[in-house]
Amino acid sequence: MSTPALQVEGVSKDFGRIIALRGVTFSVQPGEFVSILGRNGAGKTTLLNIISGVARPSDGSVQLFGTDPNDRENKAKLAVISHEMFLYGNLTAVENLEYYSQVYNVPDASQRIDDVLTDVELKHRRFDLVATYSRGMTQRLTIARALLHEPSLLLLDEPFTGLDQHAIGMLIALLKKQKEMGRTIILTTHDLHTAEILSDRYLIISKHKIVRDGLMADTTPDEIRETYFSSDKQEVGV
Ligand SMILES: Nc1ncnc2c1ncn2[C@@H]1O[C@H](COP(=O)(O)OP(=O)(O)OP(=O)(O)O)[C@@H](O)[C@H]1O
Ligand SMILES: [Mg+2]
Repeated sequence: MSTPALQVEGVSKDFGRIIALRGVTFSVQPGEFVSILGRNGAGKTTLLNIISGVARPSDGSVQLFGTDPNDRENKAKLAVISHEMFLYGNLTAVENLEYYSQVYNVPDASQRIDDVLTDVELKHRRFDLVATYSRGMTQRLTIARALLHEPSLLLLDEPFTGLDQHAIGMLIALLKKQKEMGRTIILTTHDLHTAEILSDRYLIISKHKIVRDGLMADTTPDEIRETYFSSDKQEVGV
């Protein structure tokens, strides 16, 4: 078997007395699309932060493509879409993307910028300051920014938040395209239906642990809901 895109081994995370994760272990193969499900406070964002190298685990280890998440080469392979926009409000969309093209050494940057702005349907507003964008437009630009350097691994933390129905459809189509291109995608969402449409595999986190790791093809939507909601009931305090 090839080197996993992601290997999470016995990861635990505490914030003082608060337990966020306990002994989380799983791996993801290149090209897999995995949805991470779990109620508020389950530890999904904490897990993604540890995977991307933004946070350190209290215990355990993570490897991206066989090396440390903070290795320089991994930065170029990784894209994170989260609540943090990483955009400059006092710059236009094009200026933001030009900046990131330089950071990531994107070849043929002006064509690439044009392509990603077309993908997220923002070309008509490309010369407007990002501070004047609506929330959904800002989220679309965040997606464009993340895809700019053609990452191999995408980490998406509730990327549908703030998007209207049209933009949700647009992002679903974009993610399907990324999957077809062989990219590895890890998504957290509270929308079980979208997870079912998009993913090959799902993980359910409850009480700081993975309580289910299954293939979508082997599981009915009702079974996923049942596990999701039954694990819900026990999730009280720390
Ligand atoms: N910086 C922090 N300081 C203290 N506690 C934190 C911090 N970040 C997360 N936690 C705690 O860790 C636990 C997991 O939080 P996390 O944000 O990972 O959950 P989540 O599954 O992403 O939830 P949501 O669905 O609401 O986004 C929660 O109890 C939360 O309060
Ligand atoms: Mg979260």
